[in-house]
Amino acid sequence: MQNFVFYNPTKIIFGRNTIPAIGPETAAWGNKALLVYGSGSIKKNGIHAQVTAALNEAGVEITEHGGVRSNPLLSHVNEGVAKVKEQQLNVIVAVGGGSVLDSAKAISAGAVVEHDVWKFFIGKKTIRQVLPLTTVLTLAASGSEMNSGMVITNDATQEKFGFGNRLLFPKTSILDPEATYSVPPDYTAYGAVDAMSHVLEAYMTTQDPSTPVQDRFMEGLIRNAMDSCDRCLADPRDYQGRADLMWTATLALNGLAAAGLGRVGFPMHMIEHSLSALYNVPHGAGLSAVIPGWLRWQAGRDSRKIKQLGERIFDFKAKGIESSATATIKILENWFGRINSPIRLAELEIPPADIHAIAGNAVRLAKIWRLKEYSRETIEEILYLCR
Ligand code: NZQ
Ligand code: ZN
Repeated sequence: MQNFVFYNPTKIIFGRNTIPAIGPETAAWGNKALLVYGSGSIKKNGIHAQVTAALNEAGVEITEHGGVRSNPLLSHVNEGVAKVKEQQLNVIVAVGGGSVLDSAKAISAGAVVEHDVWKFFIGKKTIRQVLPLTTVLTLAASGSEMNSGMVITNDATQEKFGFGNRLLFPKTSILDPEATYSVPPDYTAYGAVDAMSHVLEAYMTTQDPSTPVQDRFMEGLIRNAMDSCDRCLADPRDYQGRADLMWTATLALNGLAAAGLGRVGFPMHMIEHSLSALYNVPHGAGLSAVIPGWLRWQAGRDSRKIKQLGERIFDFKAKGIESSATATIKILENWFGRINSPIRLAELEIPPADIHAIAGNAVRLAKIWRLKEYSRETIEEILYLCR
C-alpha cells in the first residue's frame, strides 16, 4: 500500500426523480448559467425540458450552448468561453455524457483567463480558478461526473489530450439511471468498456506487488461493468442494470480505486486518444480495439495481474479452463465481440499502413503523461498486435 491523499469534493445525488435537484444545486452557486449539452439526445428524451424547468423554478437564467460532439472540440469550447464572458455568466450546467461534461469543465476554466484554454493541456499554464459546475449525467462511461479530469481534441493540431486539476471537480452531479434508458446499445457497450478500462489501466500498471484491497475492489468493478452491461443490452429499461452500470462507471474513475496503488499509467488510453483524435472513433470502441493487443504485449513482459484477473473474475476452475493470461485475454475479447464492440483496428477501418502515423500522434501524449517506456516504436509494436 503506497501513501496517498484521497480528495473528492463532488456531491452525488443518485436515483430516480433526482433531476429536479439540479435547480437548487445550481442556484446555490450562481444565477446566470451556461447550459452545455450535446447534439440533441436530451431534447428527444425530455431531459432538456426537465432541467430547464428546474433551473427556471430556482431563478437561474439560462444561456444555451448545445452542439457538443463526441470527442469534443477545442473550437466549440472556445465558443462557450466567449458566451460566458459576453453575457457575464457565473455558473456552468452540463447535461450529457463525458464529452459534454469535459467541454463544460474546459469552459469553466477558460472563462476566467485571457489565454487559450489549450495552454492548460500542454502544461504551459495551470488552473488557479474556475466557474462552478453542476452536472446531470446521461451516459454511464467516462466518470467525468465525479472526477477532476477533462479530455479535449484540438481541432487545429489533431491532438486529443487529457488534463486534470482539483478545481475541475463538479460541485454536484445528478445521477438518475432512468436518464440513461435512451442510450443506444452501441454507446451502452462502449460506456461499459470505458468504465472497465479505467480500473484495468490502474490494475495492470501499478508497480506495487501487493494491493489486495484495491485489487478486489477493481476486480468487482470490472465484473460489474460486464454484468450490468449485459443486463442493459438485454433490456434497456432495466433500472437495476442501468443503476449498477452508472455507479460502477463513476466509482471506476473517481480516485477511490487507484488510491494506494502509487504511480499508475493509462497506456491504453494514451493510444486510444489518437484513434479518437485522428478517426473520431467513439472512445470505448477505440479502447476495445486496443485492450487485447496491449494485454498481449503486457503478457510478454509480466503476465501476473492478467492471470490473477482471470482467475478471480472468470472462474477458470469452475469452467475447467487452464488458468493463464492468454485465457483471460480471450474471454475479454469474446465479451467485447458479444457486445459488438470492435476488437481489431480493421473493424474500425483503420489500415495497418496508418500505424506509423498513429504512433507518431500518440507518442506526443505519452511524453505529456510521462509514460517513458512508450517510444514511438513500442507504440507501433502494440498497435500491430491490435490490427
Ligand atoms: O450528443 P448527445 O446528444 O449528448 O448524444 C450522445 C453522443 O451521441 C449520446 N448520448 C449521451 N447520453 C444519451 C445519449 N443518447 C441517448 N440517450 C442518452 N441518455 O451518446 C453519444 C456519446 O456521448 P459522449 O458524451 O461522447 O460519450 P461518453 O460519455 O463516453 O464520453 C466520451 C468522452 O469522454 C472522454 C472521452 O475521451 C470522450 O471524449 N473521457 C473523459 C474522461 C474524464 N473526464 O475523466 C476519462 C475517460 O477516459 C474519457 O477519456
Ligand atoms: Zn476512458
